[in-house]
Amino acid sequence: MSRVSSSIKSSKRTQGKSTQTTSKSLTKTTVKIHEAPTSRLLTQLTRLQDQEAGWNQTTFDLSVSKPTIAVVYDKNGAIVGSGTLNAMSPQSFWMGNVFVAESMRRRGIGSKLVSELLSHAEAKKSRSSVVLTSTDLGMGMYSRLGFKVVPSIKIVMYARPPTVAPTRSSLKPRVPSKAEHEEAIKFDEKSNGASRASMLRSIYKQYGMCAVLKSGSSIVAVAWGRYLASPTKDHQPELQIGPVVAKKSEYAASVTGELLRMDQGGRSAKKGMCGSAMVLSVQRGNDSKPGMRAFESVGFMKMGEMPYMRKTLGRSSSSSDSKLDLVRASSSYHAMAWWDLA
Ligand SMILES: CC(C)(COP(=O)(O)OP(=O)(O)OC[C@H]1O[C@@H](n2cnc3c(N)ncnc32)[C@H](O)[C@@H]1OP(=O)(O)O)[C@@H](O)C(=O)NCCC(=O)NCCS
Repeated sequence: MSRVSSSIKSSKRTQGKSTQTTSKSLTKTTVKIHEAPTSRLLTQLTRLQDQEAGWNQTTFDLSVSKPTIAVVYDKNGAIVGSGTLNAMSPQSFWMGNVFVAESMRRRGIGSKLVSELLSHAEAKKSRSSVVLTSTDLGMGMYSRLGFKVVPSIKIVMYARPPTVAPTRSSLKPRVPSKAEHEEAIKFDEKSNGASRASMLRSIYKQYGMCAVLKSGSSIVAVAWGRYLASPTKDHQPELQIGPVVAKKSEYAASVTGELLRMDQGGRSAKKGMCGSAMVLSVQRGNDSKPGMRAFESVGFMKMGEMPYMRKTLGRSSSSSDSKLDLVRASSSYHAMAWWDLA
């Protein structure tokens, strides 16, 4: 049975920039790139992501990092898939939210969509690679399109613990003042290699969930949190933690635990909130999993892992790719987690 809803079927007919015909069903599809998506389109896409991929994002989630959005339309103008691309660091784009309606899969539509986003990234000439995390369903498609697994980095999904383990650090995490929040943004920028100030300010303004840890006058860890809430009634809202940046694993545990405590004392407790976190786990000397250790020490329960993949764009040399991995792996920041990148 088709899971494509009436809301998709009623979506506006849109002129696209490329078309594709597949042999399996002779389905004609059009991919259109949206640089400035309307709120109506964002609403349609969040509903569809929920129905077709089980993702409970809000329009805020989808738009906060100001992505370029590629949308696939069928011959009647109904949306059958989409994906996003945004600047992640000075070197890389992040590709995310790639989905195709369940009834339309295995006809080459996903490959066409990802190829369009890659051409778009290539045309910008501003960055040398595209990175993403892949689900099992996407692995074959991304590999065929030239993405390679980066073994030194992986994304680990965690479920939130029923109770928060007490913090061992003598430093006490707290909600930052406005000035400290700006400092925390700079701290994040230093570790991330690029500013995501506007995204972080938006999260802070919208959700007010941020915890910093200071040693003397210096910030040594920061964590942001926000709520993912489905536009449908099927999902519980979810606390999503990240970015988390810390000088030490135990500091990351401390700020993360503080966010969970804030959440339990706040609105989510009334709604039975669940939660998850993504951890970027980098190999660093003998310490192979500092980010994971931080989360597990707070009590987070590991749900699964997703491979991290990268495709080099244009004529960039492979040496610049290994340099990029090296930057990540030798970072002086021990634990990082994020839910999105800008
Ligand atoms: C991942 C996803 C986007 C792929 O979309 P899709 O339109 O099915 O992608 P494609 O058709 O290009 O490729 C998928 C598979 O179909 C196969 N295929 C493509 N055209 C085909 C055809 N005409 N006949 C038979 N098989 C075909 C491909 O070879 C590929 O096989 P493989 O995965 O075994 O290597 C889709 O499965 C999806 O939305 N999944 C849920 C969300 C998700 O996991 N997204 C990935 C985020 S990283």
